[in-house]
Amino acid sequence: MTPLPRICGRERLRLESAACFFFRKGSAVRQFLTLNDLPRQDLHAIVQRAMALKAQPELAIGQRRKTLGLIFEKASTRTRIAFETAMAQMDGASLFIATGDSQLGRGEPIEDTARVVSRMVDCVAIRTFDHERLERFAAFSRVPVINALSNDFHPCQLLADIQTFQQHRGSIAGSTVAWIGDGNNVCQSYINAAAAFDFELRISCPQGFEPRSDLLANNNRVTLGRKPAEAVRDARLVVTDVWASMGQETESTDRNRAFAGFQVNGELMEKAAPDALFMHCLPAHRGEEVSAELLDREDAVIWDEAENRMHTQKALLEYLLAV
Ligand code: CP
Ligand code: NVA
Repeated sequence: MTPLPRICGRERLRLESAACFFFRKGSAVRQFLTLNDLPRQDLHAIVQRAMALKAQPELAIGQRRKTLGLIFEKASTRTRIAFETAMAQMDGASLFIATGDSQLGRGEPIEDTARVVSRMVDCVAIRTFDHERLERFAAFSRVPVINALSNDFHPCQLLADIQTFQQHRGSIAGSTVAWIGDGNNVCQSYINAAAAFDFELRISCPQGFEPRSDLLANNNRVTLGRKPAEAVRDARLVVTDVWASMGQETESTDRNRAFAGFQVNGELMEKAAPDALFMHCLPAHRGEEVSAELLDREDAVIWDEAENRMHTQKALLEYLLAV
């Protein structure tokens, strides 16, 4: 394979100026705790930029001497690797800080950690439990803070999902999306995405597992029902996620019982639009929220979805660090 040419000197400057124009500069520190933190047009620009970076990775703006801190209080494969690889490919550095190995694990307040860490690194991505912990960190941070998943939201996942739909089917605007299963963090980011990217979202979940009611109130893009077969009718995208998220492992048995009948499988996909795609943020539990056979089909675009985490996170980092 021919190696990609290194871009430097005047050509790099030209590309950097073009990208800075693309991502409007601003003086305030920009946070990405939920999709609602960024203007709609900027979210669209990030996805477009991710498409360009996927096609031509060499276009990424160098982040030389820029450092990303990754504070993770929960496990991760995709998110961590996508961020670390993104920074490495953009000539920056990343620093993984597992809570147990840092003073956070011994009770140092999150506000003090934010003050210290943000004097040293250029950006911080945090994966944690209570969303409020992220907000408290962001309130004391001098640098952009990215939500790498909280109990309430997973906005980075949505950037990748939107890119994946666009890659296979074009714009998602005007389409119907069916969310089958738990009204969890990923589902709640789908609610925000419905407004930002202009699609209709139908959520089908068992009673007691709905998303936050404040996210549904006066929301004419989202409907809630109990029957997966009704939710997927005419849907061009069907999405699900695990029935027990990180931190809910002890509820697994009860949840498996409550979610019986909410599995996404070939039979359910038959009821969706003929060109429907299936997505899952992964990791997947085969035989629970999704059948094993579905994951191996071509309409299950889960591997592209996982890869696109890296492209969208690169575009997001370019955007947040373009000051
Ligand atoms: N989808 C996702 O966030 O995966 P990880 O938990 O592996 O990061
Ligand atoms: N809802 C899942 C997503 C994992 C990427 C969880 O929070 O564990």
